[in-house]
Amino acid sequence: MSNLSFYVHIPYCVKRCGYCDFNTYTPAELREGGTLETVSQGFVDSLIAEVTFASRTTSTTIPTIFFGGGTPSLMPAHELGRVIELLKQRWEFAANIEITMECNPDTLTLQSLEQYRSIGINRISMGMQSANQSVLQVLDRTHNPENVAKSVENARKAGFDNVSLDLIYGTPGETLEQWEASVKTALSYSVDHLSAYALIVEDGTKLSAKIKRGEINKPDDDLMAQMYLSVDNLASSAGLNWYELSNWGRPAAHNMVYWQNQNWWGLGPGAHSHIDGTRWWNVKHPSKYQEKLAAFESPMQDREVLGESEKRDEKIMLQIRLREGLAKDELTETQLRILENYPEQIMSVDNRLILTPQGRLIADRIVRELI
Ligand SMILES: C[S@@+](CC[C@H](N)C(=O)[O-])C[C@H]1O[C@@H](n2cnc3c(N)ncnc32)[C@H](O)[C@@H]1O
Ligand code: SF4
Repeated sequence: MSNLSFYVHIPYCVKRCGYCDFNTYTPAELREGGTLETVSQGFVDSLIAEVTFASRTTSTTIPTIFFGGGTPSLMPAHELGRVIELLKQRWEFAANIEITMECNPDTLTLQSLEQYRSIGINRISMGMQSANQSVLQVLDRTHNPENVAKSVENARKAGFDNVSLDLIYGTPGETLEQWEASVKTALSYSVDHLSAYALIVEDGTKLSAKIKRGEINKPDDDLMAQMYLSVDNLASSAGLNWYELSNWGRPAAHNMVYWQNQNWWGLGPGAHSHIDGTRWWNVKHPSKYQEKLAAFESPMQDREVLGESEKRDEKIMLQIRLREGLAKDELTETQLRILENYPEQIMSVDNRLILTPQGRLIADRIVRELI
């Protein structure tokens, strides 16, 4: 093994959005009367302690680092900088290393962006979700839509030439027109990359409770399909071509590490890792995570080793999502015959099978038939 990417999980948010079930906590959830400063004290020391475990791998080069969350932009730059510095001491950074930070547009200023740029972060991914105030309200999202424009402008001023926005479609009550207006607004900021995710109603979230109580309707599948096709059209007309089911524009090198099943180490509570067919994940709660590392113990919760057939299935599941599609000679006769049933959804280009926009809408169904 030589390349090893890093995911770094920052498990804090100022407020939990109504739809989100990520492994993230508000300071008050972690400690009564807690502030971000008090609850995150010593957290970066734990990340640094976990790097010691990663140092035992035989990897030599880091192609990508991704600070995800939660809201990494709540952490001061000098704290994230300590992690980057340590990784740089222990491994070689690829010449074109991509270092991404996920941000909530409300937590960014020109000054903080300049500081993040100065510690080596060179890609910013911002959660925009929608440009429509009423949609943001249903999502129970704190940010003001105008902060997105300001933050993209500040990111450019601070020297970021790789900026991405996340959007969500299918929020209850959202119309096709409102969705298209949000996509056009996002594209008007001339970003390098756009992600558009279908809203998933996760059990246990406030959104799911409201739907169960009948206060709002479940997202409509047909409308979601129209929304997907419209973002695909609008993004490609603006020069951002699809390269993965939910992503358009300049490919995110870190995400390609996941989709091409390469090796990465996830630092932080609940983070997942994958090295050469072995996967593992850390204990989920930040306090437990910090306790383990303070005692010089591995924070790993559990692990699994993939068998040959699982590896083959996973490859299909991941590669079908990509613009390069599936290599025909890696599929069995039976799998090829199944795909022949989808002439409108699959196209054949140079010995590869690639989803058409119609095919992308039912990618999950096709995968279920294949594996
Ligand atoms: C960790 S967040 C991004 C950074 C920051 N925490 C923020 O929200 O602004 C990652 C992205 O996951 C997406 N996401 C989270 N929960 C989702 C859900 N239930 N359905 C669809 N997308 C979701 C959102 O688009 C969000 O921007
Ligand atoms: S969507 Fe982002 S800001 Fe909202 S709770 Fe989830 S991680 Fe936090």
